[in-house]
Amino acid sequence: MTQKTIELIDRATDRKVNLPVHPGTIGPSVIDIAALNKEFGLFTYDPGFGGTASTDSRITYIDGDAGVLLYRGYPVEQLAERSTFTEVAYLLLHGELPSRKQLDEFTGSIRHHTMINESLLRFFHGFHYDAHPMAMVSAVVASMSAFYHDTMDIYSARQREIFAHRIIAKIPTIAAAAHKHALGQPYVYPRNDLDYCSNLLHMLYAVPCEPYEVDPVAAQALDLLFVLHADHEQNASTSTVRLAGSTGTNPYAAIAAGISALWGPAHGGANEAVLNMLEQIGTVDNIPKFLAQAKDKTSHVRLMGFGHRVYKNFDPRAKIIREMCHKVLARLGRSDNPLFELALRLEEIALQDEYFVERKLYPNVDFYSGIIYSAIGIPRSMFTVMFAIARTVGWVAHWAEMISDPAMRIGRPRQLYTGPTRRDYVEITKRA
Ligand code: ACO
Repeated sequence: MTQKTIELIDRATDRKVNLPVHPGTIGPSVIDIAALNKEFGLFTYDPGFGGTASTDSRITYIDGDAGVLLYRGYPVEQLAERSTFTEVAYLLLHGELPSRKQLDEFTGSIRHHTMINESLLRFFHGFHYDAHPMAMVSAVVASMSAFYHDTMDIYSARQREIFAHRIIAKIPTIAAAAHKHALGQPYVYPRNDLDYCSNLLHMLYAVPCEPYEVDPVAAQALDLLFVLHADHEQNASTSTVRLAGSTGTNPYAAIAAGISALWGPAHGGANEAVLNMLEQIGTVDNIPKFLAQAKDKTSHVRLMGFGHRVYKNFDPRAKIIREMCHKVLARLGRSDNPLFELALRLEEIALQDEYFVERKLYPNVDFYSGIIYSAIGIPRSMFTVMFAIARTVGWVAHWAEMISDPAMRIGRPRQLYTGPTRRDYVEITKRA
């Protein structure tokens, strides 16, 4: 089969260039623009990367119009219903679902890497009690590069694997330590007899002076949220990890960069922002006033938890979470949670509003996740940290895919320069 090409003609000079079109296994094909600069001296211009594929990848597929999300080909709905976060982590990292033996080995390895170096734990004492946990987690993860020197060779498959298991195993321990530091409570060591999410809950909530029993409903809800948040192709934080990692930097530093990118309210910080927004709205009567502000372009107010760069129909994760939200609140006896009632009314009103309908703005995954987190007792400032724990798996999978590709190059975007043209330096005494 001959390769499809797109012919571009510069009308001024009548010069032509044929740009190859690469098909994917599903989804839109991409135009390879590498020859454009060489032939025409032009760059492409795509602020926000709305129409640009930064890489090829075999990990996650999204069809934003159809509301499809596949991890290594498997629909997220099936994984949410039948799999677990640990199995999904294996799938994302290795490309295939594990056999029983592979899953047991993987789970065992993750369970036995959960402790962090005591010196690393002491880093938390350097933070003020009210430091945002995302700041602490990002800093401590970056510091891991100073502790785990035996995984510095990014070109060794074994060292990459050890790094992957370490960071996936230790990030809940770091997250829980950040939470305990904020509370002024002693750090709780991991329990390797518990599954991933139960252990996280144990480290977040146990105290030395009384027994703590993990609530299985909370652990199940957390596991589901983690499955849904595990990866989302080339989003802002994953692209940050890839860009930082493409320089050959230490992988813990690359993950710390991803955590920082995730923190913003337009990305992972939206779950915290949704709860703040619901509280600010307060009652159903105030919804119209708030929506008017969200529609006003001069106000900087946005309806948090609504809209997505890729999903322009519905976010399949939001659909699953919405159902889970009802289940969790009912099972924890909190169905009368006023914020959840308010969220449902807000959703209903916004979905009928011409502004949101016209712009295809639907609830995204974060519209509901914060409500579940708060129902299971996670404080608001920890919401984005929970997201970061889950997304670490995706970041590691993308980093490993990139590093193991022999064609990897440093990521180096270009620009359209709109600053001053060349001018000469003026002595300070002669400046106006
Ligand atoms: N509230 C009000 N208006 C909105 C919203 C919103 N939440 N989202 C988009 N719009 C409007 C924009 O003002 C714009 O209007 P215009 O065409 O009249 O200028 C139009 O819809 C298109 O919006 P863009 O900003 O171009 O969409 P983009 O794809 O760049 O942004 C984003 C996507 C960042 C998610 C945006 O919808 C948003 O800020 N949402 C709220 C924050 C949020 O929930 N983020 C979580 C995303 S999911 C995740 O990261 C897990």
